[in-house]
Amino acid sequence: MLRFEDEALTSTSETSTLPTERTSAAHESEELTVKGIVFNLLEDFIIDGWGDEAFEDILSLCPLETKEPFVGPGTYPDTDLFTIATQAANKLGVPLSDALRAFGKYALPKLLKKYPTFLEGHTDARSFLESVDGVIHVEVRKLMPKAITPQFTYEDSGPDGLIIRYASARKLCHLMEGMLEAVGEHFGQDLEYQQNRCLHSGDDHCEFVLKFGSVKARVA
Ligand code: HEM
Repeated sequence: MLRFEDEALTSTSETSTLPTERTSAAHESEELTVKGIVFNLLEDFIIDGWGDEAFEDILSLCPLETKEPFVGPGTYPDTDLFTIATQAANKLGVPLSDALRAFGKYALPKLLKKYPTFLEGHTDARSFLESVDGVIHVEVRKLMPKAITPQFTYEDSGPDGLIIRYASARKLCHLMEGMLEAVGEHFGQDLEYQQNRCLHSGDDHCEFVLKFGSVKARVA
């Protein structure tokens, strides 16, 4: 029996009760939580790639805190997400980092499809990425009460270059890598990245040095 109710990806009626204050994983001291939409995407990722049965097998191995179905607007413990992702990686025989990277690459186009307005005015990867911290994730926190988004700071490193510093108590830099790759693909643009600093190595942020190629053909 599925424990996930996929309303996040079909509903457009989520409304906000949250003021515009910043809620960042980097500064969160209480238990971290993740929105149901992310659980729904993870379910879709596993089922699209490996089928319903694989998903059920994975879920049966997960000692989850959450007993009720995951619904898009709901908020659930981070630990449940990591438990499912870790079991999925084990079952598929890949390191968790690879599974998270693949999940990020899968999830971003789905998010773009659900929230097409976030693409408005952007014709290249750089301009879109520069809007994530100050526009997209701000709106996400308004639309989804209790959402905790990462913190990005940006440094211009020339016409083809941008440095993004990522900070989050969740240390999901591998997810971030997959999302960066998906952004490049969406805009039909070569996007190379190199990671210099990493939260997993004790740094207080991950540093992504990006280099953009020219826009070739945009993916619809
Ligand atoms: C349509 C565009 C986007 C939407 C709607 C969106 C939405 C979200 C949502 C809902 C979460 C989970 C928050 C929670 O569960 O509390 C999240 C987390 C995250 N987002 Fe975005 N996002 C978008 C674009 C991006 C892009 C382009 C990047 C990076 C290249 C990015 C990086 C991340 C990361 C790394 C997390 C994981 C949370 C963490 O590290 O603490 N997002 N985003």
